[in-house]
Amino acid sequence: MSFQNPVFIPGPTNIPERLRKACDMPTIDHRSPLFGQILHPAREGVRRVLKSDSAQIFIFPSTGTGGWETALSNCLSAGDTVLAARNGMFSHRWIDMCQRHGLGVEIVETPWGHGLPADRYEEILTADTGHRIKAVLATHNETATGVKSDIAAVRRALDAAGHPALLFVDGVSSIASMDFRFDDWGVDVAVTGSQKGFMLPPGLAITAFSAKAMAATDTATLPRTFFDVKDMAKGYANNAYPYTPAVGLLNGLNEACGMLLAEGLDNVFARHHRIAEGVRAAVRAWGLELCAVSPEVYSDTVSAIRTPEGFNATDIVSHAASAYGVAFGTGLGEVAGKVFRIGHLGSLTDVMALSGLATAEMVMADLGLDIRLGSGVAAAQDYYRGCRIETRKAAA
Ligand SMILES: Cc1ncc(COP(=O)(O)O)c(C=O)c1O
Repeated sequence: MSFQNPVFIPGPTNIPERLRKACDMPTIDHRSPLFGQILHPAREGVRRVLKSDSAQIFIFPSTGTGGWETALSNCLSAGDTVLAARNGMFSHRWIDMCQRHGLGVEIVETPWGHGLPADRYEEILTADTGHRIKAVLATHNETATGVKSDIAAVRRALDAAGHPALLFVDGVSSIASMDFRFDDWGVDVAVTGSQKGFMLPPGLAITAFSAKAMAATDTATLPRTFFDVKDMAKGYANNAYPYTPAVGLLNGLNEACGMLLAEGLDNVFARHHRIAEGVRAAVRAWGLELCAVSPEVYSDTVSAIRTPEGFNATDIVSHAASAYGVAFGTGLGEVAGKVFRIGHLGSLTDVMALSGLATAEMVMADLGLDIRLGSGVAAAQDYYRGCRIETRKAAA
């Protein structure tokens, strides 16, 4: 594997030099006011990226999976029921975590490639007149299938049913890359990690709690120690953690938020959309199909691309790594061997994306797939050039 090539896995993403430098810092006393000068702006930056005025941000030395556990263990009690759709490997794993925590899960089995069925959620919530369901789980972007879901529609389902359940949203592969509106969507707990839209190395679970979710922590009885948000809040009040924080990563997070906000969130989202559209144009030119079934669920951070029947899609990933030193994502779970994934999130440009598409073409041609070299690249180039021409016209 070459360290010079960008990666095209759906996280961890490429790390900008500026963020690598921000993470690499001398040791400081993590119980001193100096640490507070890193911690509090980082939390404030995350809150702004999530488009929230009042969410409480808690950041753990962990990953997205720890963020899932933070949501469950702080707000729920054993025997509680949650509602969740299973439409890919990550929603499946979150459901599995709920079950291991002794929660009941009302599972809506949803074909992989489809988004969350907000209408089914509404029917189930409306029927739950006794309010047995305490939380609704929603994976905003299913990284396994390249499918984004409509979180506003899930909120509408809760409201239409007049149901008080909390709304937990997994934004691990959407936050800081695709539009995420914590306040507007009435999210109660949002979860992400440092290694995706924030462009940092893995190592932080980043969570946001609404006032309603904070209130739920008063009565929730699931055991929690490491991920206890109240312990964390007490620590934050003294510029500290209940244990040793990942200071370098927090410094990186502060810098990452600065970069995202300086670029402008709308510009960040537009860049991701543009790059994704170029990748999708290439997929069409190759005569291949996405796992995501329709444009309204296309993810702007990852494309899961189906390969022809009888072909092992994982060979593309292995061959790309061994022959060209380039990393793509394998298929997971139900779609293992059936799709390969191109991650297009984080620190990425059109030009970098073109190099990934060119590599994918070489790999597929090497493996005997009927792909004309340059076909996908040309389609993406046409798209990217068209966008530039439009931008220049608009500026003139
Ligand atoms: C949508 C989604 N949720 C959760 C996770 C788990 O996050 P982590 O691997 O950081 O624990 C991932 C990881 O890729 C993900 O893509």
